[in-house]
Amino acid sequence: MSELKDQIDLQKLPRHIAVIMDGNGRWAKAHGKPRVFGHKNGVKSVREITEAAAELGVEYLTLYAFSTENWSRPKLEVNALMHLLIQTVRNELKTLNDNSIRLNAIGDLTKLPEKTYKVLMEGIENTKTNNRMTLNLALNYSSRWEILNAVKKMASDIKQDVLDPKAIDESCFESYLTTKGIPDPELLIRTSGEQRISNYLLWQIAYSELYFTNVYWPDFRKDNFYKAILDYQSRERRFGKTSEQL
Ligand code: FPP
Repeated sequence: MSELKDQIDLQKLPRHIAVIMDGNGRWAKAHGKPRVFGHKNGVKSVREITEAAAELGVEYLTLYAFSTENWSRPKLEVNALMHLLIQTVRNELKTLNDNSIRLNAIGDLTKLPEKTYKVLMEGIENTKTNNRMTLNLALNYSSRWEILNAVKKMASDIKQDVLDPKAIDESCFESYLTTKGIPDPELLIRTSGEQRISNYLLWQIAYSELYFTNVYWPDFRKDNFYKAILDYQSRERRFGKTSEQL
């Protein structure tokens, strides 16, 4: 049993953890291999962190798997990532169901290649009654796209008299986001040493604790994940209040 895991206070576990999985390319380069080798090994970390999160009792795990900006990468890499996604969803379906993990995706999904979209939707459909944890993949996702999309839908609803502008508050706005019904992440982890948000969950991370580590994603394993949670648990979350008011 991991000593780090035992130190985690399960009463103060984040309900939702978001991750920016970064450093696959640099990890591959450091091993003298092509970038795709890094992504393939990144899938091993996806599996391990999903398992660790579910074992602890985290309710939502949101992984940034492909951003709207990632289309500008070399075609070979984009194709490999799309193929890897298909393979992973197919290979992991049984494990997801055995562990009652629900697959979900956020982003502009209809713009994914047809095959990727189809397999993803099958995965979502086949796991929809699972209730232990939701594995949420951000695919062709960017926060500015999501926010603009919400604004467009709201404008359209106002025009059709379905929405009263006076009724727009935070919870109303949230209901137009792709994360509708999912609590905001208490913790956001980014691997690989970069300290940026990169257009990820901008509305949702308003009060999230940010955790940056130099570890490349393919090296990020259960103990690294436990360390991030322990670091989160050592912080005081004040939400604008003073320490004394908490
Ligand atoms: C960032 O590393 C990683 C990505 C853009 C893709 C993440 C994808 C996976 C881990 C595999 C597929 C995922 C699933 C859920 C099946 P990078 O390429 O930006 O690394 P670099 O910054 O070192 O170049």
